[in-house]
Amino acid sequence: MRIVSGIQPTGNLHLGNYLGAIRNWVRMQDEVTATGGESLFFLADLHSLSDHIDRDVRLASVRDMTAALIACGIDPAKSILFNQAAVPAHAELCWLLNGTARMGWLNRMTQWKDKAGKNREGASIALFDYPVLQAADVLLYQATHVPVGDDQKQHLELARDIATKFNTDTGVDLFTLPEPFIPPAAARIMSLRDGTAKMSKSDPSDMSRINLSDPDDAISQKVRKAKTDPEPLPSDPMGLAGRAEAANLVSIYAALADSDTATVLGEFGGSQFGPFKAALADRLIERITPIRERYEALRGSPELDRHLQDGAARARAVAAPTLARAYDALGLIAAK
Ligand code: TYM
Repeated sequence: MRIVSGIQPTGNLHLGNYLGAIRNWVRMQDEVTATGGESLFFLADLHSLSDHIDRDVRLASVRDMTAALIACGIDPAKSILFNQAAVPAHAELCWLLNGTARMGWLNRMTQWKDKAGKNREGASIALFDYPVLQAADVLLYQATHVPVGDDQKQHLELARDIATKFNTDTGVDLFTLPEPFIPPAAARIMSLRDGTAKMSKSDPSDMSRINLSDPDDAISQKVRKAKTDPEPLPSDPMGLAGRAEAANLVSIYAALADSDTATVLGEFGGSQFGPFKAALADRLIERITPIRERYEALRGSPELDRHLQDGAARARAVAAPTLARAYDALGLIAAK
């Protein structure tokens, strides 16, 4: 079993990242370490070129996000933790796969359509090619499982299509088809201000998300002000239909309690949002405070660059045989 996943080093880690992905990275890291497999987690700094980000901001974000991942429980002694730019094989394999990927496939990607909007002529090539680099990220390591939130499902299906076409076109059975691991609950955490929009780093309103760096009083305030409706909570999950904001808060609570919405509603059904929100804020604070404290202690530490350098060296070694076989399968004479 080989687990691979990445995160863009832009902005803060938020609750959606944590419940949709990072918490599963930590669980899977511990499982594979116990069973002799491997886990690789990376900061997708090359992907971040699809947005314009100031040089110094990007540099600081990569280090801060490394600190945040370690604070969440990614252990550089158990997992290979690195940044993409330090492993040139990602960019190289992306270019090789550009011969396999089809314009039509990329044109159908919802992230491309959403982010490019009407201004396709002005969008960067990096934004369009983004899913091919993402395919390279996982195929390079022969990943078997890729833990992600629901919004990355389409990109992973594309990675499987690219792998299948490459294997067929070259007649070389090179790439393993990666399985997405999308958690059954909390795969799509929504904004606290709008239950139809995903919780995201790029939402201009900080009140829309809980950051893992938020102090306790900010967490309480954001939960207290989270949008709801005037009805009390229903006593069973069917009653959440058409109540996107309520459904979101209940599923956050269920994910934090390692429970399910039916059990949570068994406890809070019939109650007003006030007491439920207070209990939810307590759960969030209980989970986030230790992460924030570890994050603050790690931030700016010279250890972070050492972990990244060490992780990149290990990742380069894992990537090398697959990259060499990809060059060879295409009839390219690569550096030895
Ligand atoms: P990114 O940086 O947007 O998000 C990192 C992870 O967090 C998950 N996530 C969410 N899950 C639930 N609810 C939300 N509101 C929410 N917002 C984010 C994402 O699904 C993701 O798992 N393209 C990727 C990074 C990437 C990658 C890869 C992932 C690059 N190469 C290879 C997997 C494999 C991205 O932008 O994730």
